[in-house]
Amino acid sequence: MTEPNQDRAVQILLPREKIAQRVRELGAEIARDYRGRTPHLVGVLKGAWVFMADLVRQLDLDVTVDFLGIASYGAGTNSSGEVKITKDLDVSIEGRDVLIVEDILDTGHTFKFLQEILSLHQPHSVKLVTLLDKTSRRVLPVHADYVGFQIPDVFVVGYGLDFNQQYRQLPDVRVMRSQDSV
Ligand code: PRP
Repeated sequence: MTEPNQDRAVQILLPREKIAQRVRELGAEIARDYRGRTPHLVGVLKGAWVFMADLVRQLDLDVTVDFLGIASYGAGTNSSGEVKITKDLDVSIEGRDVLIVEDILDTGHTFKFLQEILSLHQPHSVKLVTLLDKTSRRVLPVHADYVGFQIPDVFVVGYGLDFNQQYRQLPDVRVMRSQDSV
């Protein structure tokens, strides 16, 4: 089992069992809502890949999947509001029921950007499922259609989420000590 370095001492906010239970609930809810349709899941790299891999296996539905690479400028813990595409979609979303899969919804800049660029390609619908939602940090008036957990304004890592590209492999969601996440 990989554990974080002792000197970074991060504490568990969401243990893996609690995440797994919530992902099962989200999968059931999404499968009910999309019954009879084939949603197109778009995972936002890199943070969403762990959550998406677990979520897709809880969907009793036909689905297709794709990935979009997105990066915010800057390597710190605050989103600057500037977003760029690092990997485009591979297949057309025209007429599709797109379900964006995110690890975290924070200021809302990324989701707003995604709504704007994806709508240019005439999807039938665009919804968002996010594992984590930090509503207290929201700058833009956007909301997720499906939320795993509302979390406080703490810097979290693990289950796909990083700090300077580290910690994504941790099975639990953990809180970074504030002096680590400057
Ligand atoms: C995270 C997350 C979202 C975005 C949300 O990505 O995956 O895409 O931030 O923040 P916002 O609501 O303030 O825009 P990050 O930039 O950390 O990249 P990563 O997914 O590669 O870790």
